[in-house]
Amino acid sequence: MSGIAAENTVTVQNLLAAFEGESNANAKYTAFAVKADADGLHGAASLFRAAARAEQIHAANHARVIKQLGGEATCEIHPVEVKTSLENLKTALGGERYEIDTMYPGFLAEATERKNTSAIRTFTFALEAEKTHARLYGEAVALCEAGKKDSWIGTARDFFVCPVCGYTSETPDEHERCPVCNAPWERFETIR
Ligand SMILES: [Fe+2]
Ligand SMILES: [Fe+2]
Repeated sequence: MSGIAAENTVTVQNLLAAFEGESNANAKYTAFAVKADADGLHGAASLFRAAARAEQIHAANHARVIKQLGGEATCEIHPVEVKTSLENLKTALGGERYEIDTMYPGFLAEATERKNTSAIRTFTFALEAEKTHARLYGEAVALCEAGKKDSWIGTARDFFVCPVCGYTSETPDEHERCPVCNAPWERFETIR
């Protein structure tokens, strides 16, 4: 940890943990999308792909700050355990809830104490975007549990992902600008 200033040690450790979490979430959701398609849950597959893209954006944002602070963004990608699509959706929802309720609030508090604006920004972007994922996964879990394959979870659909912060929406032209980072809506990526 040679290039990292002593006062940034914990912030960088937290950024690395978040980088690892986001990178593994990307791998998980990518595998879960394949399974959802195989199960005929094409809308759920679209959601997994959109969220996977958002996690990739979070990982890249965290990596930039890690480098800026003199660290190196590396992590281990664990093998993905693919179960039934309902279980996969619940795993995804649980991961999002952990990040929203525990991981990012803790990391944000530390970065705020250190007044590290770059770390505060990347943690805030991820935290706010994960809330959109939790909402959508929650909806998908409920529909899947109710056996409603004729709802949106059954049909491939577009999701709109902010390329700056990963905010994810199912509604086209929801806002003029991203409600989290203010990026113009025209820049949003369409993921299906
Ligand atoms: Fe997420
Ligand atoms: Fe955004």
